[in-house]
Amino acid sequence: MPILEIENLNCFYGNVQVLWDVSLKVEKSEIVALLGANGAGKSTLLNTIVGLVPPKSGSIRFMGEDIVNLSGSEIIERGISYLPEGGRLFPDMTIRENLELGAYPMKYWKSRKATLDMVFDMFPILKERQKQLARTLSGGEKQMLAMGRGLMSNPSLCLLDELSYGLSPLMASEVFDIVKKLREQGITVLLVEQNVRQTLEIADRAYVLENGRICLEGECCELIENDFIKTAYMGM
Ligand SMILES: Nc1ncnc2c1ncn2[C@@H]1O[C@H](COP(=O)(O)OP(=O)(O)OP(=O)(O)O)[C@@H](O)[C@H]1O
Ligand SMILES: [Mg+2]
Repeated sequence: MPILEIENLNCFYGNVQVLWDVSLKVEKSEIVALLGANGAGKSTLLNTIVGLVPPKSGSIRFMGEDIVNLSGSEIIERGISYLPEGGRLFPDMTIRENLELGAYPMKYWKSRKATLDMVFDMFPILKERQKQLARTLSGGEKQMLAMGRGLMSNPSLCLLDELSYGLSPLMASEVFDIVKKLREQGITVLLVEQNVRQTLEIADRAYVLENGRICLEGECCELIENDFIKTAYMGM
Protein backbone atom coordinates (compact mmCIF):
# COMPACT_ATOMS: atom_id res chain seq x y z
CA MET A 1 0.00 0.00 0.00
CA PRO A 2 1.40 3.43 -0.93
CA ILE A 3 1.91 5.79 2.02
CA LEU A 4 0.20 8.55 0.01
CA GLU A 5 -2.27 8.02 -2.79
CA ILE A 6 -4.02 10.85 -4.62
CA GLU A 7 -6.68 10.14 -7.21
CA ASN A 8 -8.35 12.47 -9.70
CA LEU A 9 -7.91 15.58 -7.60
CA ASN A 10 -9.57 18.77 -8.85
CA CYS A 11 -8.98 22.08 -7.05
CA PHE A 12 -10.28 25.58 -7.58
CA TYR A 13 -9.54 29.04 -6.21
CA GLY A 14 -12.97 30.64 -6.52
CA ASN A 15 -14.12 29.53 -9.94
CA VAL A 16 -10.63 29.20 -11.39
CA GLN A 17 -9.53 25.58 -11.68
CA VAL A 18 -5.91 25.10 -10.68
CA LEU A 19 -5.53 21.28 -10.45
CA TRP A 20 -7.05 18.97 -13.04
CA ASP A 21 -7.49 15.24 -12.37
CA VAL A 22 -4.20 14.96 -10.54
CA SER A 23 -3.28 11.41 -9.49
CA LEU A 24 -0.06 10.40 -7.82
CA LYS A 25 1.37 7.80 -5.47
CA VAL A 26 4.22 7.86 -3.02
CA GLU A 27 5.54 4.57 -1.65
CA LYS A 28 7.05 4.28 1.81
CA SER A 29 10.68 5.49 2.03
CA GLU A 30 10.67 6.98 -1.44
CA ILE A 31 11.76 10.47 -2.40
CA VAL A 32 9.25 11.69 -4.96
CA ALA A 33 9.71 15.02 -6.72
CA LEU A 34 7.06 17.33 -8.06
CA LEU A 35 8.43 19.47 -10.86
CA GLY A 36 6.86 22.19 -12.95
CA ALA A 37 7.04 25.82 -14.00
CA ASN A 38 5.98 28.75 -11.80
CA GLY A 39 2.24 28.73 -11.31
CA ALA A 40 1.82 25.09 -12.37
CA GLY A 41 0.03 24.24 -9.12
CA LYS A 42 2.78 22.51 -7.13
CA SER A 43 2.27 24.42 -3.87
CA THR A 44 -1.49 24.13 -4.29
CA LEU A 45 -1.14 20.36 -4.40
CA LEU A 46 0.87 20.32 -1.17
CA ASN A 47 -1.59 22.75 0.44
CA THR A 48 -4.43 20.43 -0.53
CA ILE A 49 -2.73 17.39 1.02
CA VAL A 50 -2.48 19.16 4.39
CA GLY A 51 -6.03 20.46 4.28
CA LEU A 52 -5.31 24.13 3.58
CA VAL A 53 -7.11 24.04 0.21
CA PRO A 54 -10.25 21.87 0.08
CA PRO A 55 -10.45 19.85 -3.15
CA LYS A 56 -13.61 20.02 -5.23
CA SER A 57 -13.38 16.32 -6.05
CA GLY A 58 -10.95 13.44 -5.83
CA SER A 59 -9.40 11.49 -2.99
CA ILE A 60 -6.29 11.74 -0.83
CA ARG A 61 -5.38 8.66 1.19
CA PHE A 62 -2.57 8.57 3.75
CA MET A 63 -1.63 5.09 4.98
CA GLY A 64 -4.80 3.82 3.39
CA GLU A 65 -7.14 6.29 5.10
CA ASP A 66 -9.01 9.17 3.54
CA ILE A 67 -7.67 12.47 4.96
CA VAL A 68 -9.63 14.94 2.84
CA ASN A 69 -11.92 16.18 5.59
CA LEU A 70 -9.40 16.19 8.43
CA SER A 71 -8.18 19.41 10.07
CA GLY A 72 -4.57 20.54 9.69
CA SER A 73 -3.71 19.45 13.23
CA GLU A 74 -5.25 16.01 12.72
CA ILE A 75 -3.17 15.63 9.57
CA ILE A 76 0.05 16.51 11.43
CA GLU A 77 -0.95 14.09 14.16
CA ARG A 78 -1.24 11.29 11.62
CA GLY A 79 2.37 11.87 10.62
CA ILE A 80 2.57 14.40 7.80
CA SER A 81 4.93 17.34 8.20
CA TYR A 82 4.73 20.30 5.81
CA LEU A 83 7.45 22.86 5.13
CA PRO A 84 5.80 25.57 3.07
CA GLU A 85 7.73 27.89 0.76
CA GLY A 86 9.77 30.39 2.72
CA GLY A 87 10.04 28.41 5.96
CA ARG A 88 7.99 30.55 8.39
CA LEU A 89 10.17 30.66 11.46
CA PHE A 90 9.76 32.79 14.56
CA PRO A 91 12.65 35.24 14.06
CA ASP A 92 12.69 36.61 17.61
CA MET A 93 12.75 33.24 19.30
CA THR A 94 15.87 31.14 19.72
CA ILE A 95 16.72 28.20 17.52
CA ARG A 96 15.92 25.81 20.32
CA GLU A 97 12.55 27.47 20.97
CA ASN A 98 11.71 27.30 17.27
CA LEU A 99 12.51 23.59 17.30
CA GLU A 100 10.51 22.92 20.45
CA LEU A 101 7.48 24.58 18.89
CA GLY A 102 7.64 21.89 16.22
CA ALA A 103 7.11 19.23 18.91
CA TYR A 104 3.43 19.32 18.25
CA PRO A 105 0.90 17.69 18.80
CA MET A 106 0.97 17.23 22.56
CA LYS A 107 1.84 13.54 22.44
CA TYR A 108 5.26 14.48 21.03
CA TRP A 109 5.91 17.18 23.63
CA LYS A 110 6.96 14.57 26.18
CA SER A 111 9.51 13.00 23.88
CA ARG A 112 10.85 16.33 22.60
CA LYS A 113 14.27 15.92 24.26
CA ALA A 114 14.97 12.70 22.36
CA THR A 115 13.63 14.17 19.13
CA LEU A 116 15.71 17.28 19.66
CA ASP A 117 18.84 15.14 20.02
CA MET A 118 18.00 13.40 16.75
CA VAL A 119 17.58 16.78 15.02
CA PHE A 120 20.83 18.09 16.55
CA ASP A 121 22.64 14.99 15.26
CA MET A 122 21.36 15.71 11.79
CA PHE A 123 22.07 19.46 11.97
CA PRO A 124 25.10 20.03 14.23
CA ILE A 125 25.03 23.75 13.40
CA LEU A 126 21.65 24.08 15.11
CA LYS A 127 23.05 22.48 18.23
CA GLU A 128 25.99 24.87 18.34
CA ARG A 129 23.72 27.88 17.92
CA GLN A 130 20.66 26.72 19.85
CA LYS A 131 20.57 29.83 22.05
CA GLN A 132 20.88 32.28 19.17
CA LEU A 133 17.83 34.09 17.75
CA ALA A 134 16.51 32.56 14.55
CA ARG A 135 16.78 35.93 12.79
CA THR A 136 20.58 35.79 13.05
CA LEU A 137 20.90 32.67 10.89
CA SER A 138 21.93 32.78 7.24
CA GLY A 139 19.40 31.81 4.58
CA GLY A 140 20.76 28.28 4.35
CA GLU A 141 20.83 27.85 8.11
CA LYS A 142 17.23 29.05 8.30
CA GLN A 143 16.27 26.30 5.85
CA MET A 144 18.04 23.79 8.10
CA LEU A 145 16.10 25.13 11.08
CA ALA A 146 12.82 24.87 9.16
CA MET A 147 13.64 21.26 8.27
CA GLY A 148 14.64 20.50 11.84
CA ARG A 149 11.40 21.96 13.12
CA GLY A 150 9.43 19.89 10.62
CA LEU A 151 11.07 16.75 12.01
CA MET A 152 10.10 17.55 15.60
CA SER A 153 6.60 16.17 15.01
CA ASN A 154 8.04 12.71 14.19
CA PRO A 155 6.62 12.62 10.67
CA SER A 156 6.49 9.58 8.44
CA LEU A 157 5.91 11.80 5.39
CA CYS A 158 7.61 15.17 4.81
CA LEU A 159 6.25 17.61 2.24
CA LEU A 160 8.99 20.06 1.28
CA ASP A 161 8.34 23.12 -0.89
CA GLU A 162 11.39 24.63 -2.63
CA LEU A 163 13.86 24.04 0.14
CA SER A 164 16.83 24.96 -2.02
CA TYR A 165 15.32 28.26 -3.16
CA GLY A 166 17.80 31.11 -2.92
CA LEU A 167 20.62 28.93 -1.59
CA SER A 168 24.16 28.83 -2.93
CA PRO A 169 25.02 25.63 -4.82
CA LEU A 170 27.01 24.41 -1.82
CA MET A 171 24.17 25.01 0.65
CA ALA A 172 21.66 23.52 -1.78
CA SER A 173 23.78 20.36 -1.97
CA GLU A 174 23.79 20.17 1.82
CA VAL A 175 20.02 20.43 1.86
CA PHE A 176 19.73 17.65 -0.75
CA ASP A 177 22.09 15.48 1.32
CA ILE A 178 19.76 15.91 4.27
CA VAL A 179 16.78 14.86 2.18
CA LYS A 180 18.68 11.66 1.35
CA LYS A 181 19.33 11.14 5.07
CA LEU A 182 15.61 11.37 5.73
CA ARG A 183 15.02 8.49 3.33
CA GLU A 184 17.75 6.48 5.08
CA GLN A 185 15.82 6.97 8.32
CA GLY A 186 12.68 5.63 6.70
CA ILE A 187 11.02 9.04 6.31
CA THR A 188 9.16 9.41 3.03
CA VAL A 189 9.59 12.68 1.14
CA LEU A 190 7.46 14.48 -1.43
CA LEU A 191 9.36 17.55 -2.58
CA VAL A 192 8.71 20.47 -4.87
CA GLU A 193 11.83 21.80 -6.54
CA GLN A 194 13.00 24.17 -9.26
CA ASN A 195 16.47 22.74 -9.03
CA VAL A 196 15.64 19.97 -11.48
CA ARG A 197 19.00 18.32 -12.13
CA GLN A 198 19.97 17.93 -8.48
CA THR A 199 16.47 16.78 -7.64
CA LEU A 200 16.46 14.08 -10.31
CA GLU A 201 19.81 12.92 -8.97
CA ILE A 202 18.54 12.28 -5.46
CA ALA A 203 14.87 11.42 -5.96
CA ASP A 204 13.46 8.00 -6.89
CA ARG A 205 10.55 9.14 -9.04
CA ALA A 206 9.13 12.42 -10.27
CA TYR A 207 5.91 13.90 -11.59
CA VAL A 208 5.80 16.95 -13.84
CA LEU A 209 2.86 19.34 -13.49
CA GLU A 210 1.96 21.64 -16.37
CA ASN A 211 -0.95 24.06 -16.00
CA GLY A 212 -2.37 21.96 -13.20
CA ARG A 213 -2.14 18.60 -14.99
CA ILE A 214 0.39 15.82 -14.59
CA CYS A 215 2.01 15.65 -18.02
CA LEU A 216 4.87 13.27 -17.31
CA GLU A 217 5.91 10.84 -14.61
CA GLY A 218 8.61 8.26 -14.19
CA GLU A 219 11.78 7.01 -12.56
CA CYS A 220 14.29 9.81 -12.10
CA CYS A 221 17.07 7.80 -13.73
CA GLU A 222 14.98 7.78 -16.90
CA LEU A 223 13.63 11.33 -16.65
CA ILE A 224 17.15 12.72 -16.40
CA GLU A 225 17.68 11.48 -19.99
CA ASN A 226 14.25 12.66 -21.19
CA ASP A 227 14.44 15.23 -24.02
CA PHE A 228 11.38 17.17 -22.85
CA ILE A 229 12.83 17.49 -19.34
CA LYS A 230 16.22 18.47 -20.74
CA THR A 231 14.85 21.29 -22.87
CA ALA A 232 12.01 22.50 -20.65
CA TYR A 233 13.61 22.21 -17.22
CA MET A 234 17.37 21.90 -17.56
CA GLY A 235 17.96 24.48 -20.27
CA MET A 236 19.81 22.01 -22.51
N1 LIG B 1 -4.72 31.68 -2.61
C1 LIG B 1 -4.85 31.76 -3.95
N2 LIG B 1 -5.92 32.38 -4.51
C2 LIG B 1 -6.08 32.45 -5.83
N3 LIG B 1 -5.21 31.92 -6.73
C3 LIG B 1 -4.13 31.31 -6.24
C4 LIG B 1 -3.88 31.20 -4.82
N4 LIG B 1 -2.72 30.53 -4.64
C5 LIG B 1 -2.27 30.24 -5.88
N5 LIG B 1 -3.10 30.70 -6.83
C6 LIG B 1 -2.94 30.53 -8.29
O1 LIG B 1 -2.94 29.16 -8.57
C7 LIG B 1 -1.98 28.83 -9.56
C8 LIG B 1 -1.02 27.79 -9.01
O2 LIG B 1 -0.26 28.37 -7.96
P1 LIG B 1 0.79 27.56 -7.09
O3 LIG B 1 1.26 28.46 -6.01
O4 LIG B 1 0.20 26.26 -6.71
O5 LIG B 1 1.93 27.32 -8.18
P2 LIG B 1 3.40 26.73 -8.01
O6 LIG B 1 3.54 25.64 -9.00
O7 LIG B 1 3.68 26.43 -6.59
O8 LIG B 1 4.30 27.97 -8.49
P3 LIG B 1 5.74 28.49 -7.98
O9 LIG B 1 6.76 27.60 -8.63
O10 LIG B 1 5.82 29.87 -8.53
O11 LIG B 1 5.77 28.44 -6.50
C9 LIG B 1 -1.31 30.14 -9.95
O12 LIG B 1 -1.92 30.61 -11.10
C10 LIG B 1 -1.60 31.04 -8.76
O13 LIG B 1 -1.67 32.39 -9.17
MG1 LIG C 1 4.97 27.17 -5.20
